This record gives sequence, C-alpha cells and structure tokens, in this order.
Amino acid sequence: MIDPEPDGERLQKVLARIGVGSRRTNEILIAEGRVRVNGKVAILGARVDPDSDEIEVDGAILTTLPDVVCYLLNKPAGVITTASDPQGRPTVVEIVPDSPRVFPVGRLDLETEGLLLLTNDGGLTHRLTHPSFGIEKEYLAHVIGKPSRSAIRQLREGIELDDGLTAPATVAAVGDEGLKITIHEGRNRQVRRMCEAVGHPVVRLVRTRIGPLVDTRLQPGSWRPLTQEELLSLQRAVSRA
Ligand code: URA
Repeated sequence: MIDPEPDGERLQKVLARIGVGSRRTNEILIAEGRVRVNGKVAILGARVDPDSDEIEVDGAILTTLPDVVCYLLNKPAGVITTASDPQGRPTVVEIVPDSPRVFPVGRLDLETEGLLLLTNDGGLTHRLTHPSFGIEKEYLAHVIGKPSRSAIRQLREGIELDDGLTAPATVAAVGDEGLKITIHEGRNRQVRRMCEAVGHPVVRLVRTRIGPLVDTRLQPGSWRPLTQEELLSLQRAVSRA
C-alpha cells in the first residue's frame, strides 16, 4: 500500500479528470484495491503526480501524458495506409492533424474501408499489432455468391493459405452475400485471401471493430480522438494478453 503523499493531486480527482469514471466510481475502484500507482496498490486519499507517476486501473496503465494522441479514423477506399507514398496517392496520415506526428496502427489495404487507429504511442502500437496480444478485428466482407455452411465452417476452423493455416475465426453470414469475420491475426490481405480460398472473392471489405472499439456514426474520411474511456478499454484489452 502506498501512503497518502502531501504533494500532488488527489488520485480520484486525476482519474475523474482523465475520464476513468465519476469521482465516486473512482473512490470505489481505489477502495477495492484495483488502482495501483507505480506498481503499488493505492489507498483513498493518495496524491499523485500525473506527469511522472504510472497509474494502473485493473492492470491497465493509463495514458496521462498530454502529448500522446490516438485517433480513430474511418478510412475510405482509395487511401493508402502508410506515412508517405512515393506514387503520390492519398495517405491516411494526411487526413489527421500533422502535429504531433502519428503513425497507423497496422494496415488496411488500399481498397479496405473502416476503422483504423493512428497514434504516436509506439508501445500501444506494438501491443495492438503483435500477434501474441491477439487483439480481435472484425470485418464485414461483401462477397461474390452465397457462402455455404461448409464454406463458413472452413473459414471458422482455419484455411490453409500460402503462408500457413489461419487461426480459428468467428464467422457469421450477413444476408446472402455478406460475412462478418472476426480474426485476431494480422496477415497481409488475410480476410480477402480466406474468402477467395473458399470460392467467394471479396468485393468490399469494411473493418467494423478493433478490440473494444466500434463507431457506427463516424463517416468515411472522418476521424476523432479516442476518449479516455476508450483508451482505457484498449489498454485493458492489451494488458489481458
Ligand atoms: N484483411 C484483408 O484482406 N484486408 C485488410 O485490409 C484487412 C484485413
């Protein structure tokens, strides 16, 4: 247990300010021993320096640094997921503010649409993209033809691609020519190759969820910063791994 420190800001106030919960909720979190400061369980009344102390809630380290940003973009088709393109095609980083400099978290193909994160937090990028953390990504694939039950079963169980067998996936039919596919690997063109392998080429692909993040109202080409609650839920998702 850490003792209350005379200096700094009250922990429950810091948690409220960065959006973890209401003051009351935060007091409960602290009383239940779910909050740690610099690795030690905090007590009610503890004072912290949000710029230098490492604060964890349920094992997830909070991002309190003011210069860390994380944007959620609804990537339109025809925009490339790189920081710069020698061929001069529009890039995802051109859509968001150019300072501080951010990088895409993983990749969506040129023609793939949907949710993409951009951040300057290298640690978060690593945890979100490294396969060992197994962050789920959900896609809506519009395919040619109506996939049979057996095709859907194959997609679920694993498909032998030229770079190896895919891990089990969650797959459900959406209408006649749609599939909702949730994977936790990030191989190149994976969803397109999986669908192609069962005889149903993808004609349109939209990423609809990244771990806990969804946003059905964000328009193609629009972006917004993540809320602290969303950042916290992402941190939780990667800290469980
Ligand atoms: N799978 C694909 O095939 N393409 C993407 O852009 C993302 C996942």
